[in-house]
Amino acid sequence: MSDTAAAVATYNVSAEFEGATHSFPCQADQTVLNAAEAAGVTLPSSCCSGVCTTCAAVISEGSVEQSDAMGVKAELQQQGFALLCVSFPRADLILKAGQEDALYEAQFGQYQK
Ligand code: FES
Repeated sequence: MSDTAAAVATYNVSAEFEGATHSFPCQADQTVLNAAEAAGVTLPSSCCSGVCTTCAAVISEGSVEQSDAMGVKAELQQQGFALLCVSFPRADLILKAGQEDALYEAQFGQYQK
């Protein structure tokens, strides 16, 4: 008997969206967005390739690997912004989804004042 699934770490994600908090498991090789969908949790998404920022979230605890997140500046990634469609968990996560407007403001708001 072999159990290859045990080789991939699974983390817990706690995602707040529109006032509700959803908890679901996410494997280290699975995007947070895919894990949410698999658990029946619908979070905002559009391009699913790290460009449009529809799936933006702010991570308050834990960290993700998001090397394909072209839509977020590195310094904002360090502040916790993440694109869930290209984010792979590296720890248990606590995050707030639906942060597209906040991300836009953080990236471009300074140019509009
Ligand atoms: S859905 Fe477009 S960046 Fe994630």
